[in-house]
Amino acid sequence: MATRHFLTLTDLDRGEVETLIRRACELKQDFRTGKVYEPFKGKTLAMIFEKSSTRTRVSFESAMTQLGGHAIFMSPRDTQLGRGEPLEDSARVLSKMVDCIMIRTFEHEKLIRFAACSEVPVINGLTDSYHPCQLLADMQTYYEFRGSITGRKVAWLGDGNNMCHSYIDAAGLLDFSLRIACPEPYLPDPELLRSAGDRVELFRNPEDAIVDADLVVTDVWASMGQEQESIERNRVFRPYQVNQQLLALATPEVIFMHCLPAHRGEEVTAEVIDGPRSVVWEEAGNRLHSQKALLEFLLGQRN
Ligand code: CP
Ligand code: NVA
Repeated sequence: MATRHFLTLTDLDRGEVETLIRRACELKQDFRTGKVYEPFKGKTLAMIFEKSSTRTRVSFESAMTQLGGHAIFMSPRDTQLGRGEPLEDSARVLSKMVDCIMIRTFEHEKLIRFAACSEVPVINGLTDSYHPCQLLADMQTYYEFRGSITGRKVAWLGDGNNMCHSYIDAAGLLDFSLRIACPEPYLPDPELLRSAGDRVELFRNPEDAIVDADLVVTDVWASMGQEQESIERNRVFRPYQVNQQLLALATPEVIFMHCLPAHRGEEVTAEVIDGPRSVVWEEAGNRLHSQKALLEFLLGQRN
């Protein structure tokens, strides 16, 4: 059987995503009751971070520890990756030594090249184009708070970035309506939008996108690697800030998510992110459980 990778959400089919969500909920329950479950004894996950991380690093590392395995943190600063060893060579070498590899990098194409040379499953820990691990946690969180997301309305306000792209994938897989409000120069990838069909709609006006939404999501206006564009982005995105006035247009049961880290006073007000509609802490915590389910799935798939 071919090695399964997780480079975008669409590497899984709908049934697999739903199974992972249910499994993540079970693993969360086991974690809470202190059940010892160590299927990964002797297994190692290598984690390559070319960008900063708090949640992704700690959730994967803790997941491996709790499941009886081990995780190795690698950064370009102190590995040969930073001294120009080709990515493909690193993939070939690492996959002779570890059971799974997670990478956070810039160009998505680098991840694809890496995975093509890896004999073990490769997980996308975020690229400039996608952040599928976050979507597993977000979909688990929606399921826990509100049940099935199928047929629901999700409003995405702000940048058409990596998170937005993974939401587009999720809308297609889980069949919900995604309403994106985004300023013209920052629209999501047109190819991805075309393939999503009528499940995804674009709005110039945030009010129009958020009306009757069951879930409202946003993200930073300047992602990692775009810091030098912050001043211009803060100006252009200002009308897309998720605040109490906008949120009042959504359904009364709306919940708010943000992958974090958040900038209060920019893409979201403190009143919203720290308010009763926000589920961001549960969402962040679910990175641990959904990634345990993912690791179990990918390692189980190995031949
Ligand atoms: N949401 C997320 O991926 O957070 P980190 O950048 O801290 O990993
Ligand atoms: N869009 C953000 C997500 C961080 C988890 C970034 O790429 O920096």
